[in-house]
Amino acid sequence: MTTYITTPIYYVNAQPHLGHAYTTIVADTYSRFRRLCGEKVRFQTGTDEHGDKIVKAAENQNVQPKEYVDKISAMFRSTWPLLEVEPDHFIRTTDVDHVAVVQEILQKVYDSGDIYFDEYTGLYCQGCERYLTEKELVDGNCPDHQKPPKEIAEQNYFFRMSRYQQQLIDHIHNNPDFITPERYRNEVLSFLSEPLEDLCISRPKSRLTWGIELPFDDKFVTYVWFDALINYLTGIGYPDGPDFAEYWSVAEHVIAKDILKPHAIYWPTMLMATGVPLYQKLHVHGYWNIDDTKMSKSIGNVVRPKELVDNYGADTIRYFTLREMSFGLDSSFSSEGIVARQNADLANDLGNLFSRATAMVRKYRQGKVPEPAECTEADRELQAAAQTMIRDYRQLMAEFLFHRGLQAVWDFVGVANRYIVSNEPWALAKDPAKVARLDTVLYNTLECLRLLTLVLQPVMPGAAIKMAAGLGLAAGDERVSSLEKGGLWNLLTPGTELQTIDALFPRLDDGKKDAKHAGGKKSKKEKNDPLPEAGGDLVDFDHFQKLDLRVAEIVAAEPIKKSKKLLKLLVKAPEERTIVAGIAEYYNADELIGKQVLIVANLKPVKMMGVSSQGMVLAARTQGDGKERLVLSSVSDMVVPGSKVA
Ligand code: MSP
Repeated sequence: MTTYITTPIYYVNAQPHLGHAYTTIVADTYSRFRRLCGEKVRFQTGTDEHGDKIVKAAENQNVQPKEYVDKISAMFRSTWPLLEVEPDHFIRTTDVDHVAVVQEILQKVYDSGDIYFDEYTGLYCQGCERYLTEKELVDGNCPDHQKPPKEIAEQNYFFRMSRYQQQLIDHIHNNPDFITPERYRNEVLSFLSEPLEDLCISRPKSRLTWGIELPFDDKFVTYVWFDALINYLTGIGYPDGPDFAEYWSVAEHVIAKDILKPHAIYWPTMLMATGVPLYQKLHVHGYWNIDDTKMSKSIGNVVRPKELVDNYGADTIRYFTLREMSFGLDSSFSSEGIVARQNADLANDLGNLFSRATAMVRKYRQGKVPEPAECTEADRELQAAAQTMIRDYRQLMAEFLFHRGLQAVWDFVGVANRYIVSNEPWALAKDPAKVARLDTVLYNTLECLRLLTLVLQPVMPGAAIKMAAGLGLAAGDERVSSLEKGGLWNLLTPGTELQTIDALFPRLDDGKKDAKHAGGKKSKKEKNDPLPEAGGDLVDFDHFQKLDLRVAEIVAAEPIKKSKKLLKLLVKAPEERTIVAGIAEYYNADELIGKQVLIVANLKPVKMMGVSSQGMVLAARTQGDGKERLVLSSVSDMVVPGSKVA
């Protein structure tokens, strides 16, 4: 099986931004996913370098178009590796082989009678670089550029697009997956329910010289879209290169909704006229807005990929964009959104699972993968959950439902976290009769980590390499790089040594810290109000409300020297603070990492054994076997650290 996946080729009148980055991350993730499925993949991106817009941009910078396009194209090319995007081919419409193929196709379509010369008066939008119909205008303006189009009367060459209208309608009806999601398929069908006009495909050189000359009339250059769309063929060696034979029949294009019409109408009809079979699929996504506002230079809110990578790292940006946008719909981008996902999904759910599980293997099994013993019902349920996750992930990723694929993965992260909690390896470790059970629980937990490494590889390639290393596996090991061979259970080899890796995802400060949380905002009077005496007395609600109860996550724990009872805990709630807890007789420091407990966050700090405690961990005092014991409080599901308890 083979896959050919493309992004649009981006105009070089602007530098790369979040919108370009998203489409390119999607295509890269899909190409890595297909490779994970064992397929041979070709992934292409590039730059679109002809046309009015580019000439204007070069003029603004006082340079020749060629010098200008070389510079901006290089910027796009050098941006992608920062995001761990690895295309197989980067095409430019100024490449000589591309120019030759465009001319060859123009000549072919001209010779077959599908291009004719005519006079045309139309409404031209410079931003879109095309004529608009009256119907497309909103209050007399181009809906995308909010400017009235110019009326232009010109003699030009036209492509007989109308001739292929019915054939295209039939193709869309017969191939329900040709354009997805369905809303865009419907949009195209609705557009095609009106008579299709022929397409003006030339510009007189008197108006524009920066383009590919028509092979049959040197007074004209070709329209930028007729030139640009053909990149999808040139890049794989049309008409007779071996890659064309191998990849064209499986071509899939990814675009945003802004360029639906050229891809869903111009391009298939151009292919029909050229006698080339149509591409397989067009995947259309929505637009990223910034804090619910359109991203634009004039508003000054354009988000640059380099800044994102510098601030958050490529893996976080890839995960965030894929998880946050429902493919096909618009989405809002915000730094708060990234921080929330990083802290909750990456640092808390995934990162903690990884560090907790590997820390226990280091502690109880000298850092070596243990030999599993017989399975219990709980183990079989875990394996079944893993298989369900792989099946759902595979199907959803193949359908471009990345947000749902990742949701399925995170559901499984939750299952694995709960497996640890309910099997209590730290308790098993205390009982010599339960050695085999402890080995099995640890082994199964490591298998969960391996499967997570496997499925996350397309989304977060950098983190996946680290996770594989942590499990003692090379990144290219089939057990973490092939869904066919690695998607099974029980593949880790007992005795393999784990490697120590840095924390996968650091927790990020959301920049809001104290002020937003109870405590920081209270008036002096309130702060100094005495709390009621403990005991059986009833308290009124106002008094209860003065307690700032929160969920805290333990990020570090260590015994306090010279004390048998005290542990020093570093907790996140959501800011970091130290709390001293009298639980050393009941808990080992290591087993606490990653646990979520309830704390009183607004107790006056007190010093114990020289350590200042900023709060109190809540625990139940209980009796068992004639002994008193403290059992830490918890929440029934993982929550964002700092969540209020009310
Ligand atoms: N050059 C043409 C495409 C020719 S393809 C044969 C073009 N270039 S562009 O630079 O304007 O890129 C448009 C594409 O960039 C969109 O289709 C989408 O892939 C991406 N995005 C640009 N802004 C975007 C958002 N705000 N949100 C999401 N993606 C967007 O059109």
